[in-house]
Amino acid sequence: METKIYKMGNRATEGAMIGEAARVIREGGLAAFPTETVYGLGADALNPEAARKIYAAKGRPSDNPLIVHIADMEHLSEIAKDVPDQAKKLAEAFWPGPLTMIVNKNEKVPDETTGGMQTVAVRMPNHPVALELIRKSGCLIAAPSANTSGRPSPTLAEHVAEDLDGKVPVILDAGEVGIGIESTIIDLTEAIPMILRPGYVTKRMLEEVIGPVRTDPGMISEDSSVKPKAPGMKYRHYAPKADLIIVDGEKKAVIDKINALTACMQTKGMRVGVIGTDETAAHYTGDVVLSMGAREDEDAIARRLYRILREFDEREIHVIYSESFDSPGIGQAVMNRLLKAAGHQVCVV
Ligand code: TXA
Ligand code: MG
Repeated sequence: METKIYKMGNRATEGAMIGEAARVIREGGLAAFPTETVYGLGADALNPEAARKIYAAKGRPSDNPLIVHIADMEHLSEIAKDVPDQAKKLAEAFWPGPLTMIVNKNEKVPDETTGGMQTVAVRMPNHPVALELIRKSGCLIAAPSANTSGRPSPTLAEHVAEDLDGKVPVILDAGEVGIGIESTIIDLTEAIPMILRPGYVTKRMLEEVIGPVRTDPGMISEDSSVKPKAPGMKYRHYAPKADLIIVDGEKKAVIDKINALTACMQTKGMRVGVIGTDETAAHYTGDVVLSMGAREDEDAIARRLYRILREFDEREIHVIYSESFDSPGIGQAVMNRLLKAAGHQVCVV
């Protein structure tokens, strides 16, 4: 199959291109499209055959459910068994936006879309191309991140093409996404709503709207016997090809430690990558040193993370040392993804 990449940005041609992607989806095919978080690989969420194509193209385990993307609040009541008050409040506060809500599903939603679960994940993305695609297709669009299973999520259309060339007929290219990390997932079927995946919308932001929220203990655990509730969080996603180790501590100590580890590896003939910041990058002696941006610019760091992990995959690097990026806002989500990529290997100095 030939993959067509359509560049967005020209109002004169954009409409017809989105229209073509919408037709492909309506007819049961796949189309990749931008959202504000990461690129998604879309198909008609209520068509089991179409949903199956998503799993095949990504090489995704079939027990890992998909997020249904909607463009209007009425779409939620179309697929939910009931719409809890909390969902209405959260939708008012954060939709369209980077928040996915889990609610009980009704019989319209096929098992293929929910990986056999009785609940469904729903999100209204905040991207004009995504919203227009959903409206024009006349479908609700099931869409996981548009990467091959196990690779970092795509923040550029080029990343989608890298992974899915020949497997998807059309990619809508709107350049780099705004956020760069997947949506926050909150499960509203629990007595106390539970965060299954951290993202741009933080626990504190959610609590301001609906009161107490907990975090899935399985999500943060290194202990593989504690299963996370979102099936996708159990996989070692976002894994770079090289071994990744996070070094945490005070700035000067981290630089010294990473340089000492680098020297040790280089004497063994290994090539070393380093993930630093604008403030520290010049101090590192690794073979490839990449900066996440200015440390205080959390948003830029989130936007750059997956791109940097992909870049290391293209270089001949054996081991990567990374600074730690814990901070109160989206830094939590950055750290969650980085810890998963590192298989929880952290060296505290
Ligand atoms: O930002 C995003 O959410 C992006 C864009 C494209 O919207 N999508 C995305 O989808 O990240 P995906 O498939 O890569 O991640 C969906 C996550 C998986 O970890 C999956 O296990 C979880 O959501 N999930 C989906 N439905 C669920 C359900 N009913 N119960 C628990 N977890 C669910
Ligand atoms: Mg994904």
